[in-house]
Amino acid sequence: MRWDTIWLNASLATLDPGTGSGGYGGIVDGAVAVRDGRIAWVGPRSELPVGWRAELELDCGGGWLTPGLIDCHTHLVYAGSRAGEFEQRLQGASYEEIARAGGGILSTVRATRAADHDRLLQESARRLQALGAEGVTTVEIKSGYGLDTASESRILRVARQLGPICGMTVKTTLLGAHALPPEYAGRADEYIALVCEEMLPAVGAAALADAVDAFSETVAFTPQQVARVFETARTLGLRVKLHADQLSDSGGAALAAHFRALSADHLEYSSEEGVESLAQAGTVAVLLPGAFYFLRETRAPPIAALRARGVPLALASDCNPGTSPCSSLLLMLNMACTLFRLTPAEALAGVTRSAAQALGLADEVGRIAVGLRADLACWEVSHPTELAYAFGANPCTGRYIGGVAMPR
Ligand code: NIG
Ligand code: FE
Repeated sequence: MRWDTIWLNASLATLDPGTGSGGYGGIVDGAVAVRDGRIAWVGPRSELPVGWRAELELDCGGGWLTPGLIDCHTHLVYAGSRAGEFEQRLQGASYEEIARAGGGILSTVRATRAADHDRLLQESARRLQALGAEGVTTVEIKSGYGLDTASESRILRVARQLGPICGMTVKTTLLGAHALPPEYAGRADEYIALVCEEMLPAVGAAALADAVDAFSETVAFTPQQVARVFETARTLGLRVKLHADQLSDSGGAALAAHFRALSADHLEYSSEEGVESLAQAGTVAVLLPGAFYFLRETRAPPIAALRARGVPLALASDCNPGTSPCSSLLLMLNMACTLFRLTPAEALAGVTRSAAQALGLADEVGRIAVGLRADLACWEVSHPTELAYAFGANPCTGRYIGGVAMPR
């Protein structure tokens, strides 16, 4: 047996249902070997094949190895800050009131349109690097702060550029139907026509997006308008996902399921029927406790129903300036447990195995299993539960993509 690299002196949280024990797929004192960037062997060290050899032996110092973390829902390419709106909300204004008065998403659209390329790249790189420091190896980045074809395309190009700069796998999502731009005020159907007839074909032709998202909400777009966007995405061969039922129940979960969405995200106000339709469609539920916390929401997503129906629960930062100005995925593990009552093992699965599924990457990353890409994170913890238990701590000691060490 000849390998490129072997990780030793580590316990493994494989998150692979077929391996190890407990909700983590745990293997105490394990080993992981890599050849050509893929996991070639995983198991207890005591069962390593006789006569194995590796070019490089890495000592994990008795810590734990997990799959590299995956943040499957971010809006991290933007300019400016919404600290002023934070103060307004602390004085009683609601997110919807600020949005209706032309602030909210639109204030970030103004700042993002005005920012030059280098500034946008630099501000966004800082946020992506912060995620990387916590063991994140794959990130989804949405557009949605441009709201015209050129600006949305620019955001997606910046997102693509960030991957190699920060040592990160980046998946991009077009979120043209995020808010109504000021130049289309009162003409939402005309804006949706622009998204379908100009923006989506242009982004599709330039291969700038891996998926298409929309915001179905009273302050954004109706289910009918979202359906138009999703039908166009389908004709272009792009998978969809949806900001669904975040502030009210607009039937978002069922709408996402109808279009066989990769994921339905937020879901605070989703009904039992909505949950059932997600289960039938195999759509992943992406939970965003950062936005729930920051907007001081009181209604949690229907976790018990989602769990009972076997809907995979992913977890993401939602990194954005309005509802979750946060670049810590580890903090989301803690919040998912304290605010949504996930178990720490469910939370870790939410940023690995289920997050991979939410991005259509289940056969590529998200578990420590033979054949998958060797995206790994090494942690100075005595048990993986500590990743959800502590907050404001960062025990990450190493980050690897395809078996290669990445900057942290
Ligand atoms: O995921 N809900 C819509 N989009 C973002 C918020 C965007 C913003 O306020 O800038 C979210 O919460
Ligand atoms: Fe979001």
